[in-house]
Amino acid sequence: MLFHNNIYFNFAFSFNEYTKMELKVLKQEIDRIISSEDSNENTLQKICDYLERTVSYYDWVGFYFKNGTKNELKLAQYTGEETEHTIIPFGKGICGQVAMSNENFVVQDVSEQENYISCGWKVKSEIVIPIFVNEKNIGQIDIDSHTANIFTEKDELLLEYICKKIALILN
Ligand code: SME
Repeated sequence: MLFHNNIYFNFAFSFNEYTKMELKVLKQEIDRIISSEDSNENTLQKICDYLERTVSYYDWVGFYFKNGTKNELKLAQYTGEETEHTIIPFGKGICGQVAMSNENFVVQDVSEQENYISCGWKVKSEIVIPIFVNEKNIGQIDIDSHTANIFTEKDELLLEYICKKIALILN
């Protein structure tokens, strides 16, 4: 019995370590992309491409930013299917709500959301994390997944880390 417990413990431990390692590698690669000398546009595009390619359940990765002085978001760089939602008024959809709430929004099942803008029938869940420059919400990273109930605190932590790093170059 003790032996079995040990095996279980070891497995759980290694699994946890592997997740930590994976996160560390993701952060290191983001740091590398951000510190490479390139335009902000190219850097954001590389981040979209890298995340979509690397995290299996990130099926659409994009950035929306406040559109000048208008109370709306404008789509910037993205990877994934083309979307017609290139302009989103503040308050509309998950993105528009984050523009006003200044808080992370994790939707485990988009079919349960009334104030939601669909970007295709395949999308089952979504996570949106705001980007703050000088404490002002200037935009966000938006990720769609074709799998429901997939996002965890791990994603929020990784994406908050990325948004903070991006804020430094957009400052
Ligand atoms: N689903 C978003 C719209 C943007 S797409 O995900 C690309 C929303 O409800 O705001």
